[in-house]
Amino acid sequence: KQKLLLDVDTGIDDALGILLAANDSSTELVGITTVNGNVSLKQATTNTLNVLALTDVRAPVVQGAASPLLRAPHFEKAVHGENGLGGALADSEPAMLPTPGFAPDFIISQASRFPGELTLVMTGPLTNLALALQKCPELPRLIQNVVYMGGAAFTYGNITPTAEYNMFVDPEAARIVLQAGFESLTQIGLDVTRKALLYKEHIDSLGDSPVKAFIQECTAHYMTRYEMRNGIAACALHDPLAVAYAIRPELCETSLLHTDVETTSRLCDGQTICDVQNRLGEEPNVHVALTLETDAFLSYFLTTIQHGSR
Ligand code: BDR
Ligand code: CA
Repeated sequence: KQKLLLDVDTGIDDALGILLAANDSSTELVGITTVNGNVSLKQATTNTLNVLALTDVRAPVVQGAASPLLRAPHFEKAVHGENGLGGALADSEPAMLPTPGFAPDFIISQASRFPGELTLVMTGPLTNLALALQKCPELPRLIQNVVYMGGAAFTYGNITPTAEYNMFVDPEAARIVLQAGFESLTQIGLDVTRKALLYKEHIDSLGDSPVKAFIQECTAHYMTRYEMRNGIAACALHDPLAVAYAIRPELCETSLLHTDVETTSRLCDGQTICDVQNRLGEEPNVHVALTLETDAFLSYFLTTIQHGSR
């Protein structure tokens, strides 16, 4: 079975990504690490434990960085709600505890335990992986694939005019990851995730279950907000698409491009630069996703998300 390790800042779409990864029985979820991002580290961890409890999977959940490498946290409560899940599960005390440890160390230990077998799916700011690389520079040789949700190659940002949120929150960490020399590093950015839209009718089509009730509740808030900005009442499945791509790479076509991230600009911090014509003459380092098989993705997402759910 393909071994996945998720790194999340559990917000609404991270939660849907966790449900997807946990419910796809073709993969083994070897752990989930949490990071500050949409919400605080503590809240992201609580949300992760509560969402995982909606599935049959009991993977370890390990906490990581409480702030970006150099910058102050930048929560996204306007999009994800006060608790990060649009109010869903707000009163639930997690039935499980986080596993003791620190996410960067856990990433290193799982990579060492399964050398060449692990796929990392990163759906928050890249702080934990950057810290792991600082501690263990040979980490790229131990990891099979890294897929991150973040960046925008040929489209506008979603937190500033040019930057995507995960890159914007910790661009210094993103640069460490981009320059680490991973054999296979894929960017699932806004170019494709804005095409991965979940509508209310999709949710209504699910069979009744606690998972359906959860998805209905947590996406309602997000859809209202997305409509204000984008004119469409939908939930962009940013993070679930990164999970889906890690399991089914045929869903996106990618182009191998030298990719960097801006860290010293008043207007463009966090912007990803994907060098299409190799103007910089640098080695290509990232498989940048450019197309999406939208129907195939949505049907995979909707059929898988309920398997094994409580
Ligand atoms: C990304 O930002 C976060 O708010 C979402 O959870 C997703 O990971 C989209 O830009
Ligand atoms: Ca996220």
